[in-house]
Amino acid sequence: MASSAAANIGTSLARLAIAAGIDVVLSNSRGPETLAGTVAELGERARAAAPEEAARAGDWVVVSIPLAAYRELPAAALAGKVVLDTINYYPSRDGRVEVLDSGKTTTSELVQEHLTGAKLVEALNNISDHHIPSLARPAGAADPIALPIAGDDPQAKAGAADLISRLGSDTVDAGPLAEGWRFEPETDPYAVPYSAAPDAMRAFWTQVSEALRSGTAPQTPPPVDGGVPLPAARLRTLLADTSRKLTADRVVA
Ligand SMILES: NC(=O)c1ccc[n+]([C@@H]2O[C@H](COP(=O)([O-])OP(=O)(O)OC[C@H]3O[C@@H](n4cnc5c(N)ncnc54)[C@H](OP(=O)(O)O)[C@@H]3O)[C@@H](O)[C@H]2O)c1
Repeated sequence: MASSAAANIGTSLARLAIAAGIDVVLSNSRGPETLAGTVAELGERARAAAPEEAARAGDWVVVSIPLAAYRELPAAALAGKVVLDTINYYPSRDGRVEVLDSGKTTTSELVQEHLTGAKLVEALNNISDHHIPSLARPAGAADPIALPIAGDDPQAKAGAADLISRLGSDTVDAGPLAEGWRFEPETDPYAVPYSAAPDAMRAFWTQVSEALRSGTAPQTPPPVDGGVPLPAARLRTLLADTSRKLTADRVVA
């Protein structure tokens, strides 16, 4: 597995992949040498490389970077690859993207437009980074967690589901990339159903929103808890019933 971006989400996934016996190649924007500490901590199944080399190395490639940088993803190296896209859109971080603000397209459709030839699957973007490891379960566990995926290529979706299953979660197919809005930020399946402290999570979003408005930093860190498993049937209902959250409707944008 190659992870383009070795920070919150990228490192959580790398740790789970290594525990599942999968070799990992990490990359970031500042160069492989800046990942030496992370690689040492992850052990011998991990190495770091420049984004293009990491992209070529992976059977699966996870792109987990701020949306603002998506045009820097190495499209040629990713052609033909199953690419799991965790990217969400925050105008306060990424700048305004009119086609996303208006709902003309989804974040992953935009990334797919750039990654011509790659088989993109929107995945792992509706769960907080700390819940990815805490909710991972061995295959056949009595309390599995389900995560949504969306994509236009059925084989790529099967490949993504295979990886996510090895990392400890079930998947629910939410449809093509155009339906990916169903689990973008602040929709019903987004983050809160996996949280053991949903009120604290919503309160944190409000605090972030106020901080953004006033140009200050949030006063308290995000709530961290062990999470609660979300069964596939419940996730299907949340995906079916959610309304679309355009950036103008969101608490944090
Ligand atoms: N954190 C969460 O709980 C969460 C949940 C769901 C979805 N997401 C989404 O997932 C994405 C990643 O989130 P995160 O929290 O892991 O972000 P993060 O901690 O800020 O890490 C971003 C990573 O992207 C790398 N990066 C930036 N530009 C790059 C480029 N052009 N090429 C290669 N790597 C590049 C950064 O490397 P450098 O440091 O070297 O620049 C860094 O390793 C975001 O779109 C976020 O909205 C996050």
